[in-house]
Amino acid sequence: MKLFIKTFGCQMNEYDSERIAAIFQERGYSLTDNLEEASFAVINTCSVREKPYHKVESELGRLKKFKKLNPDFKIAVCGCVAQQDGEKFLDRFDYVDLVFGTSAIDRLHSLIDLVEKGERICDTSEGDDELSIPVFGRGKKVSAFVTIMKGCDNFCSYCIVPYVRGREKSRKPSEILDEIKYLVNNGVKEVTLLGQNVNSYGKGLDEDINFPKLLYKVHDINGLERIRFVTSHPKDFDDELIFAIRDLPKVCEYLHLPLQAGSNKVLKMMNRKYTYEEYRDKVLKAKEMIPDLALSSDFIVGFPGETVEDFAETLKAIKEIRYESIFAFKYSPRPKTKASNFVDDITDDEKSRRLNELLSIQSKITEEINKSYVGKVQEILVEGKSKKGENQFSGRNRQNKVVNILSNHKLNIGDIVTVEIVEAKKNSLLAKIVEFVGR
Ligand code: SAH
Ligand code: SF4
Ligand code: F3S
Repeated sequence: MKLFIKTFGCQMNEYDSERIAAIFQERGYSLTDNLEEASFAVINTCSVREKPYHKVESELGRLKKFKKLNPDFKIAVCGCVAQQDGEKFLDRFDYVDLVFGTSAIDRLHSLIDLVEKGERICDTSEGDDELSIPVFGRGKKVSAFVTIMKGCDNFCSYCIVPYVRGREKSRKPSEILDEIKYLVNNGVKEVTLLGQNVNSYGKGLDEDINFPKLLYKVHDINGLERIRFVTSHPKDFDDELIFAIRDLPKVCEYLHLPLQAGSNKVLKMMNRKYTYEEYRDKVLKAKEMIPDLALSSDFIVGFPGETVEDFAETLKAIKEIRYESIFAFKYSPRPKTKASNFVDDITDDEKSRRLNELLSIQSKITEEINKSYVGKVQEILVEGKSKKGENQFSGRNRQNKVVNILSNHKLNIGDIVTVEIVEAKKNSLLAKIVEFVGR
């Protein structure tokens, strides 16, 4: 019995897919990348923009052929599109066997039981209120995602996430710590704590805890070397978190703080609840307090009503803040969201033009920042062999940038090495070993 699993969307979905894979493995399935030998396929979907949504349809079209060849082949759709469309999936795609939503993973065993018996089912119910995830096994890794909360209460006007992931719920700290200890015992050196807005972690829990306090507890875990987190919402980003990043050596100097747009008018329409000036003052303070802090951000171009002048404010912002990298997207209206009632008045061509302009200015900034790393001595967590050659390995620096390392020693995955950056490439850095600390 073999499981093929394909994941679209964000790290939350990747985490969920690992959890889903572990459930199938408990039932005796092994994983495969080859659809021809798979007996079950799971498509974990994303609906945050139109493009990933359409990808799901084309992926299902591909799977249909395999169902024709092998009628026992089962197909499941889960994740955010499943949560959004539910039963509609079973109606529209008569070859889909199972649809399960973002809160149904803990009921998956019994759902698979029914599907294996030949039933077609949909479970998109919200589940109980408590967010509890039992510890589950994963493949050998040095870096792992750990979900600390789910859902979102922010209702940015363009965003479907609050509708497909439900209300914000935090996991108990003891559960999170147990999961990380388990991962560390199995070779993990770095964890990335996941939430749509980690800054509101802890709300609704009985314990007196917030996100910076959780970072302190995670930091105490022996054998864990690095801590990362995504995503912080700018409106709740505060000094306590800046101090925690500064004072906790394991917390990496990397902050993903999505600005979305530079114009205050657009930010207001987006319901982001901060002005550009408030945002700028917070990040400049963080940069000042945390040496070597790398910043990244998400941007939406062509939001309804965004004029050329508004867009110019976004360009001004990236020049002023100087992010290491950005993710930028053309706006697309999403069902149920407030902005879907606004007139989507920017043409697709104009959205593309703005996107290209934004990315091209950013790519110059990234290149300049990459060059400024040359000559610096940095700590790298080795994550694999580089495709480039025998003596090349790859990993990431604390700023989350990919670094390829030239080394005469054989490096192992999980090694932490000190390197000197010798060359800056467009999207990565090249380095040579300065100090090899063994294992
Ligand atoms: N919780 C995170 C991001 C979640 S979605 C946050 O608050 O930043 C990831 C990114 O997708 C968003 O930051 C946004 O830039 C983009 N996005 C969300 N909805 C979108 C839409 N309707 N059209 C285009 N981009 C969108
Ligand atoms: Fe979406 Fe806003 Fe929540 Fe992020 S904070 S998931 S953009 S509603
Ligand atoms: Fe996509 Fe769902 Fe994540 S909509 S971005 S997979 S929370």
